Amino acid sequence: MALPPQLQPLVGTWRGTGSGHYPTIEPFSYTEELVFRDVAKPFLVYQQRTWSPEGQPMHMETGFLRSPTPTTVEFVLAQPTGQAELAEGTLTPLEEGLLLELQSPQVLVATSAKPVQATVRTYRLTKNQLAADFSMAAVGVTMTHHLHSDLDRAED
Ligand code: HEM
Repeated sequence: MALPPQLQPLVGTWRGTGSGHYPTIEPFSYTEELVFRDVAKPFLVYQQRTWSPEGQPMHMETGFLRSPTPTTVEFVLAQPTGQAELAEGTLTPLEEGLLLELQSPQVLVATSAKPVQATVRTYRLTKNQLAADFSMAAVGVTMTHHLHSDLDRAED
């Protein structure tokens, strides 16, 4: 089965910069690469990598993005820090793009990992720009913004 057409605009490599904060940590900034890969299946393969401004590897994550109906999305995500998210939500067509709004009301957390209770993700695609936001309820803090990044479609 082929990729649902509503996911097609995301396919490709996206690069840019982001910044992060949380009440328990020092603010930080990073560069980011997101890849949504079409593997001729009804889902996208997702890989994200980030680096410090000096080029040191920071967070990375991987997963699968499904869209079972034209207006719904499901994102299965694995974190190398020992958490696993199953985020579900909506896909809304915009005039020149689309908006994904997802929530993972539960997160599986390994025994040794930092406790993350729930996450919220937003991806707003406008023409060749992708803005990503991530919030989490974690380490005893209620749902609070952690990350924002602005990415451009890469040519390669
Ligand atoms: C762009 C991706 C991300 C970057 C660059 C990033 C970066 C950071 C940094 C620099 C810290 C503070 C230092 C540290 O404790 O290691 C931190 C803390 C943390 N991050 Fe992220 N993070 C990212 C994504 C995520 C995601 C997806 C999750 C959850 C699924 C997450 C959960 C946490 C938690 C639980 C903490 C610890 C807070 C504390 O101990 O008070 N982060 N992150």
